Amino acid sequence: MTELCKEGAWAVGLASISEVSGNVLEVFYPSPTLGLHGAPNELIRAAGHDVSSGTVEIHGHHAAELGAAELGAAARTDDLRGVRTVCVLTVIEDCSAPPADAYDAYLRLQLSSHRLAPPGTLNFDGVFGTLANVVWTDAGACDVEGFTQTRMRFMASGRSLQVRSVDKFPRMTDYVVPDGIRIADADRVRLGAHLARGTTVMHEGFVNFNAGTLGESMVEGRISAGVCVGAGSDIGGGASLMGTLSGGGTEQISVGEGCLIGANAGIGISLGDNCIVEAGLYVTAGTIVTSSDGKQRKARELNGASGILFRRNSMTGAVEAIERGGDWGELNPDLHDN
Ligand SMILES: CC(C)(COP(=O)(O)OP(=O)(O)OC[C@H]1O[C@@H](n2cnc3c(N)ncnc32)[C@H](O)[C@@H]1OP(=O)(O)O)[C@@H](O)C(=O)NCCC(=O)NCCS
Repeated sequence: MTELCKEGAWAVGLASISEVSGNVLEVFYPSPTLGLHGAPNELIRAAGHDVSSGTVEIHGHHAAELGAAELGAAARTDDLRGVRTVCVLTVIEDCSAPPADAYDAYLRLQLSSHRLAPPGTLNFDGVFGTLANVVWTDAGACDVEGFTQTRMRFMASGRSLQVRSVDKFPRMTDYVVPDGIRIADADRVRLGAHLARGTTVMHEGFVNFNAGTLGESMVEGRISAGVCVGAGSDIGGGASLMGTLSGGGTEQISVGEGCLIGANAGIGISLGDNCIVEAGLYVTAGTIVTSSDGKQRKARELNGASGILFRRNSMTGAVEAIERGGDWGELNPDLHDN
């Protein structure tokens, strides 16, 4: 089980606050820092704030002193959207404690997408309760409450308004574009995803928050929240990686290095290194598998094992777990030189 990070974190950000409900709709932190070294406590205390943890609104000139002058310039009231944007400083005392509010949650999501904390190392317990449901438009975040009036204000000013989604999480690329990756469809990667260099996410791929890859990988299937995929692994088209050990468990699953999850396959147990799951086979924790020696057991007993080929015997219908050596051809390097 991955250990939670007990470090703190801080960042200067630009928060969008609804004038209708007062909800924090989203917060953009361009340069989050993990660890409280260099936290600008002195400066902020001098401005009369206490920032040992939590969020304070800061003036544009303070944002400039903290290296984020553009955020100060971006702070304004947007009457069309009914949103006020303000500069904030957010400090998290301990990332192993659950997120306290939307500011805290947005900072954790961006720490993850900036690759400062791998999946499973930041506490996201209760994150849904901290986030507002938001109408994500091509003009920015809008409150769900009163959205018809918002649309009419846009119409009255001769502008159209396109809705991309209505969700608690925005897409990652509107906040962070990590280097060395490709994403065919930006809507399929949520803020909080962790994509290592050399990751390619194809159109059918999906990566949730607090989930992702640790090295070069091909993602054509779905990576659920909390799931970590090791370097050199390929998640085939339409494949699905369950969030937790299937059958009511809370243990989060992972995929080791050099694995191939075939097209339309799925797993509800963790895989070690160099495993293959045959195309179309879904291995849940309770699936009875037959090993090469003829022994039958539940797949959960092979949780985390390396060098296994899972396949459904097309003659007998039995699911087999066959020990294997060698490789499956490995990733095509041309596709990961991003
Ligand atoms: C499971 C898988 C890896 C096996 O592929 P392989 O290692 O190349 O194996 P082969 O198909 O050459 O089969 C080897 C032997 O096992 C047998 N075999 C393979 N799958 C079998 C099955 N499900 N049931 C019974 N026998 C099987 C073959 O008939 C063959 O027998 P032989 O040695 O007597 O000729 C492959 O079928 C697979 O599912 N790959 C996933 C590819 C994929 O989806 N990629 C992602 C794209 S988006």
